[in-house]
Amino acid sequence: MIHVFNLESLNATENLATKTAHVIIPNFIVSLSGNLGAGKTTLTRAILRAIGITGSIKSPTFTLVEPYQLASYVVYHFDLYRFSDPEEWFDAGFDEYFNEPQISFIEWPEKAEGLIPPIDWQITINFLNDERRELIINSLTDIGDKCLMKLINNVEI
Ligand SMILES: Nc1ncnc2c1ncn2[C@@H]1O[C@H](COP(=O)(O)OP(=O)(O)OP(=O)(O)O)[C@@H](O)[C@H]1O
Ligand SMILES: [Mg+2]
Repeated sequence: MIHVFNLESLNATENLATKTAHVIIPNFIVSLSGNLGAGKTTLTRAILRAIGITGSIKSPTFTLVEPYQLASYVVYHFDLYRFSDPEEWFDAGFDEYFNEPQISFIEWPEKAEGLIPPIDWQITINFLNDERRELIINSLTDIGDKCLMKLINNVEI
């Protein structure tokens, strides 16, 4: 199932992020594609805030992953841009992160193509101009479909 959101401003991205935080559930994997500066980190950061993460939310550009422990699950924010080989996914032990309850956001999933566990939402952000973005959610699992339907209903109310 695919849905396209037209985001007219940074504020619109933040609103969508807040609504997204209300529909996703533990053991959910979101990938984020789009050019440098499209808004992958900005969207993820706003979702993490709305999930309830306090304190600083750093971009994982240099660390590859930033983990956030919540009461009953961990939120992982990955940025795989610096991978030079997909096998680094295993070298870093990232495959084992999915054995425990988690919600994961993965920027630059193309860098570990085929190695990431089943992705629930594949998000693509296209830059239109200064603040305008086209955001496409492609849900690839049954749970992903259910959450996307909830999001669409919520956004359109
Ligand atoms: N509607 C919008 N949605 C998201 N970001 C926006 C929007 N309008 C403006 N911006 C700005 O665009 C920039 C997006 O940068 P961001 O670091 O989120 O990109 P990115 O996709 O994570 O890039 P990278 O591939 O380098 O990690 C930020 O400066 C943000 O404030
Ligand atoms: Mg980023």
